[in-house]
Amino acid sequence: MRIDRCNNVNDFRAAAKKRLPAPVFHYIDGAADDELTYRRNTEAYGRCDLVPNVLAGVEAVDISTTVMGQRLAMPLFCSPTALQRLFHHKGERAVGNAAAKFGTMFGVSSLGTVSIEEIGAAIRTPKMFQLYFHKDRGLTNSMIERCIAAKFEVLALTVDTITGGNRERDLRTGFTSPPRLTPASLVSFALHPTWTFDYFGREPFSLPQLKDYVKEGTNVAISVGEYFSTMLDQSMNWHDAEAVRVKWGGQFCLKGIMSVPDAKRAVDIGATGIMVSNHGGRQLDGSRSSFDQLAEIVDAVGDKIDVICDGGIRRGTHVLKALSLGAKACSGGRFYLYALAAAGEAGVEKALGNLRSEIERDMKLLGCTAISQLSRENLRFR
Ligand SMILES: Cc1cc2nc3c(=O)[nH]c(=O)nc-3n(C[C@H](O)[C@H](O)[C@H](O)COP(=O)(O)O)c2cc1C
Repeated sequence: MRIDRCNNVNDFRAAAKKRLPAPVFHYIDGAADDELTYRRNTEAYGRCDLVPNVLAGVEAVDISTTVMGQRLAMPLFCSPTALQRLFHHKGERAVGNAAAKFGTMFGVSSLGTVSIEEIGAAIRTPKMFQLYFHKDRGLTNSMIERCIAAKFEVLALTVDTITGGNRERDLRTGFTSPPRLTPASLVSFALHPTWTFDYFGREPFSLPQLKDYVKEGTNVAISVGEYFSTMLDQSMNWHDAEAVRVKWGGQFCLKGIMSVPDAKRAVDIGATGIMVSNHGGRQLDGSRSSFDQLAEIVDAVGDKIDVICDGGIRRGTHVLKALSLGAKACSGGRFYLYALAAAGEAGVEKALGNLRSEIERDMKLLGCTAISQLSRENLRFR
């Protein structure tokens, strides 16, 4: 499918499905257990209606926002996601460049495939580093120090992966990082020659944030579930989170907050942001959708901390609904990962461009010229 024909996230999903070997596609597309939460993350927006005003003089609209001290030209940013060079050989380089072109924030995972140093030197847009809290404190601390040296703007500690979610599609396909060569995966590679040539014919796969600390090297195939369960520290608690914040010393956010008491504790430990998120439905299935949980969190802490609504975003109207409830910005993974897989940097640019146009058009149709004019007056719940 040509990318100029990809008008929405679903079009990019279909294009990604064509280009990727099945285990890689299902790693992106899949979620935990019965994938209820994954579906609800998007369906929740459908239970909320917009009420427009007209005759508002909307020829110029400003969709910029400020979140955790970062001025973003559009109110949607790229959440950190793992293993991007597995989806397209340019990986984080493609996503970072595209995010910079649209003046929005770019998240880099602890399981990123391009180094903190290279991204810090090359990408001129606000950068969020996503930290996993490893049992090996030397590894956790080295990531924080490297991000300080590379001048990342925001550190996000992920708090919803205390153990691996039950991602049954990955169990079925045998997905590992890097992909393990099995008879089934070889068939899948043979059926997707463009991906296979890019993956095997270019720079070898690696996880540069981890490689000095993982004895076996990062090229030993393990499942993401195994990584969470064996390398991350299940004793992580609020004191640890606060200690990370103190060591980092800058804009700090907790990624994966879903309850009001936890949102309040995030304020207490000095976080400047929280991402209301269930990891795109990839962890606790049956967890409430981020959008459904947003209002009570904004009401409790929205005047003390920046609240970001993460996950399920497939349309500009979804972003406007979350902002109307009081989120400072929205973020997502799959909306740009499908596009990365389908067409690299040009794909991510098209995906961000589609959503930017939708946000601008829908602001006009809603009768608003600035994000600050969005409010709960615009919304009705069914
Ligand atoms: C393929 C994939 C990999 C991800 N990797 C990470 C990760 O390494 N760290 C993290 O905190 N979240 C990770 N996430 C979760 C995203 O940051 C984000 O919370 C989620 O994608 C939001 O849901 P959405 O995909 O519906 O937008 C990943 C998500 C996907 C789809």
